[in-house]
Amino acid sequence: MAKTKASSGAILGIETSCDETAAAVVTRDGVIRSNIIASQIDDHSQHGGVVPEVAARAHLSQIDQVIRRAMDEAELGFDDLCAVAATGGPGLIGGVLVGTVTAKAIASSCSIDYFAINHLEGHALTARLTALDPDAPDSVSLDQGGIAYPYLLLLVSGGHTQLLAVAGPGSYRRYGTTMDDAAGEAFDKSAKILGLGLPGGPKLEALAKNGDAKAYDLPRPLMHKPGCHFSFSGLKTAVLTAYQQDIAPHENGDRNTDQQKADLAASLQLAVAESLVSRSRNAMRQFKIDYPDMISPAFVVAGGVAANRLIRQSLEDLAATEGFGFNAPPVGLCTDNAVMIAWAAAERMAAGLPSDDLDFAPRPRWPLDPDASPPPGRGVRC
Ligand code: KG4
Ligand code: ZN
Repeated sequence: MAKTKASSGAILGIETSCDETAAAVVTRDGVIRSNIIASQIDDHSQHGGVVPEVAARAHLSQIDQVIRRAMDEAELGFDDLCAVAATGGPGLIGGVLVGTVTAKAIASSCSIDYFAINHLEGHALTARLTALDPDAPDSVSLDQGGIAYPYLLLLVSGGHTQLLAVAGPGSYRRYGTTMDDAAGEAFDKSAKILGLGLPGGPKLEALAKNGDAKAYDLPRPLMHKPGCHFSFSGLKTAVLTAYQQDIAPHENGDRNTDQQKADLAASLQLAVAESLVSRSRNAMRQFKIDYPDMISPAFVVAGGVAANRLIRQSLEDLAATEGFGFNAPPVGLCTDNAVMIAWAAAERMAAGLPSDDLDFAPRPRWPLDPDASPPPGRGVRC
């Protein structure tokens, strides 16, 4: 394992697991020195979705300059770093490889620690960073951060929808996961049906603003049933059926499609929000049984879908009703970024966890709670 330089507490983070090439510098005590994100949306738009091979090539061509910009903006040289952290999975393996070999090369040439970070852990711990008081003195202790362990996490991204108790870095208990599509997929696939283009989630949210959420009676799978698992694939099918019946180009050409599209978008958004609320309520009650000593535990919502305003608000209302404190990272740190990767390394260091060896092999699948049993009706989804 490489030796940690004592002189500086700056960590370079690298994120390349999907369609953003990102680098950031964060200090061990929680100061974000830089945050650079190069989106690949233009590369993927013509294909209607993220193409893994296109993503890997774009990461390769972008990564050097993205890291350069992150270091320049942080006003640091590589000699000032104490560690470098890169997403080691789960994700599209070509992109994960690009970030991983780059981080290992920096760690090796600068003799600093290397951390292979679970992308989901990055999302899971970001709120602990953003809840730190920015006006507090430099020497903020993590123990004084706004969110104490253990807390309940709803992780809602493009590939994952999970409810977990977070007891510390590397320490998770999963209450529920999706049996089929992730919540983000419900947004992305519905946006595609409606012809909105990429990025699907934000475009669908924008369209939904002008719609009537009661116009379409879409299903809420598993709602009011016990347990914390999710199911979203039926929603996408229901959106497709409604689109074909009401909105798709018609030979008579007499459809009021703009309003109906907005209505369908709003109805979909409400169905996802209500599903998330229903399952989160069950998880909150289970969490209180599992951690009876927590007086007002935190409920953290993270991942790209946490950027959605209706969903944030619905979950905040639920938290208030169930006696949980609510916390979500600012919208820009809900979607993929490298701040969360650097911060996860800072948390690991603070917890006394070891850095990773340079022979770490990237992991396309990497569950946060490897002991969790799969939901009924499907195989394991990390
Ligand atoms: O966490 P993230 O950036 O990447 C993954 O790790 O998957 O999440 C991306 C997902 C996509 O499905 C995207 O459509 C969704 O988050 N998303 C949103 C919004 N912004 C991003 N969904 C609904 N409303 C939004 N405003
Ligand atoms: Zn993500």
